[in-house]
Amino acid sequence: MIIRQETENDFSQIYDLVKTAFQTAHVSSGDEQNFVNRLRGSGNYIPELALVAEENGNLIGHIMLTDIYVVNGDNKYKALLLAPISVVLEQRNKRVGSKLINESFRLAKELNYASVFLVGDPAYYNRFGFQPSINFGIKNTQGFPDQYVMACELIPNALQGISGGITFLT
Ligand SMILES: CC(C)(COP(=O)(O)OP(=O)(O)OC[C@H]1O[C@@H](n2cnc3c(N)ncnc32)[C@H](O)[C@@H]1OP(=O)(O)O)[C@@H](O)C(=O)NCCC(=O)NCCS
Repeated sequence: MIIRQETENDFSQIYDLVKTAFQTAHVSSGDEQNFVNRLRGSGNYIPELALVAEENGNLIGHIMLTDIYVVNGDNKYKALLLAPISVVLEQRNKRVGSKLINESFRLAKELNYASVFLVGDPAYYNRFGFQPSINFGIKNTQGFPDQYVMACELIPNALQGISGGITFLT
């Protein structure tokens, strides 16, 4: 398996992959495949952090990290949003998702990002070092239950002294 940056040639296959993957998600809007397109067009897109996992020429996983901001008055702190992550059903529980997360974090650090946020299941994301963002004094502005809005420091103590509100693209 290789992990590489997505290219335009992958976009239609990624659309199908994300759509199918989220059909078996615990929580899904059914719109995640279109959300990927909105993220790409949002100005928050970071090509270097939109990755696919490929095996024998087939795409088996996908992850996107895009820009997001913690806002506190006039201060804007730049961080990353992890969303969405998808692995094809046939390849689940083989650490493909973990490898996509770890590789995206490695690349994110190279690009000088220090923290990552997401809305997701703590049962999956705790293992990567995510904890509720509210622990850092960072609240979501959209009324998501606090335990699902999570933050991970890529650099130890990166979120010390950062507080404010975070708004997720929908
Ligand atoms: C979530 C997902 C990307 C994980 O991919 P994966 O390659 O199977 O993950 P890994 O092999 O790295 O990790 C598997 C572990 O995560 C656990 N896991 C997977 N999804 C989980 C979830 N939603 N909640 C809790 N645990 C989960 C598995 O039980 C397994 O646990 P174990 O290591 O204790 O056996 C994949 O299941 C998927 O595409 N799901 C549908 C889309 C989705 O839900 N995306 C995340 C939205 S928050």
